[in-house]
Amino acid sequence: MEQKVAELLNQQINKEFYSAYLYLDMSNYYDEQDLDGFANWYKIQAQEERDHAMLFLQYLHNNGEKVTLEAIDKPDKVFASPLDPLVAAAEHERYVTSLINAIYAEAYAAKDFRTMQFLDWFVKEQGEEEKNADTMVKKYELFGTDPKGLYLLNQELGARVYSAPSLVL
Ligand code: FEO
Repeated sequence: MEQKVAELLNQQINKEFYSAYLYLDMSNYYDEQDLDGFANWYKIQAQEERDHAMLFLQYLHNNGEKVTLEAIDKPDKVFASPLDPLVAAAEHERYVTSLINAIYAEAYAAKDFRTMQFLDWFVKEQGEEEKNADTMVKKYELFGTDPKGLYLLNQELGARVYSAPSLVL
């Protein structure tokens, strides 16, 4: 594997664990606000991000590359309202999409077709992640400012259950 591609894949392990940390921080915020459904949603989101990190790690191992784990940044966002994490999550997912695209571009330039195929799952996943995050913002804007609407939205998000990623390496 070209060194630059391997480096970016290795960095992505850290980015995905940071995403897990960020979403766990959001889950904590909602727990403190007694919005247990929102908290549940982000706790599961954090689990998904750990799965993503492990997929990058396993892919590097499967290809005989060294894995170097770096320190995970502290989530430092301050949330002033229940809408804030939703907006921050949507922005964050767009950032993650840009990272996946950058690795893809490097793999493409290196004619690393195997890595491109591995990343295809993430390209699709990012489309879903962005859509889900945008939907959360829209739903909150529509219903979240009404107490009954917020109650129902919290219930809806509380029903989310974890499922393992469809990509198996
Ligand atoms: Fe790992 Fe939310 O993308």
